[in-house]
Amino acid sequence: MKSGEGSAATDLRSERAVESIYPKARPVIWSQLAMEESRLITGSPTQQIMDCYSLLRTRVLHRVRQHRIQTIGITSPAPRDGKSLTSTNLALSIAMGESHPVVLIDADVRRPTLAGLFGIEPEVGLGDYFMDEASLEDLLLKLPQKGMYLIPGRAQSRLRPEALSSDKVLDFTLRLKRMFPNGLLIFDMPPALVGGDVVAFAPNLDATLIVVANRRTLEKEIQQTMTVMEDVNVIGTVLNFAEETISRNEYYKA
Ligand SMILES: Nc1ncnc2c1ncn2[C@@H]1O[C@H](COP(=O)(O)OP(=O)(O)O)[C@@H](O)[C@H]1O
Ligand SMILES: [Mg+2]
Repeated sequence: MKSGEGSAATDLRSERAVESIYPKARPVIWSQLAMEESRLITGSPTQQIMDCYSLLRTRVLHRVRQHRIQTIGITSPAPRDGKSLTSTNLALSIAMGESHPVVLIDADVRRPTLAGLFGIEPEVGLGDYFMDEASLEDLLLKLPQKGMYLIPGRAQSRLRPEALSSDKVLDFTLRLKRMFPNGLLIFDMPPALVGGDVVAFAPNLDATLIVVANRRTLEKEIQQTMTVMEDVNVIGTVLNFAEETISRNEYYKA
């Protein structure tokens, strides 16, 4: 064996190992301007905002390791409470700080917004998958951030109510878990108190975080959300739109 061949073989083996941790997916480019306008931490965040998401990441990862969680859903009582922003920045923060893959899934299938936050216009979305018109491989996008994947949504007026059954969601999550055995899967879910879609997702996931909008979410809505989440493993709440004097931008309480 010539010198150098051994190390080439080792390189190939380690490349294969990396490939198995990070499955192949269609690479997409993102828009810096869109991410800045969307308040993503890959835009132009202040140190204070970075620190808030780092704190959230630390608290969530603690729970993930403690309870061997692989799938986390994020919901809130109503639209515009900050579910999508929280899910996306949490996913990015974990991908930036960890060596395992993170898959962000736009599970608000009827009102998807995640691709838009990155300035991406996907050809297919999760709704197409549930309509049996796209495969998982068609959906999966690789974002420029190392270890970061996106399963986008696409406005889907034709999505029939029965297309989003709990069985189909379970099958989808099992397939994704098999594809990413070392990955963390973060689901940006529909609101808990609008439509019934959240119940197709939340009971099929290992854990759920509830976002609460400071000064907007009513106590009654929190109680109703906890009733909807009765059979779900709620691991914490995120107070969004918190004032700087209360904490910083966001505050996580497990
Ligand atoms: N902590 C925050 N600070 C400032 N703006 C926020 C914050 N959280 C959310 N927003 C903004 O509020 C709007 C609704 O947030 P979004 O994450 O889309 O809510 P949801 O997914 O619950 O409907 C978006 O324009 C988002 O940028
Ligand atoms: Mg949303």
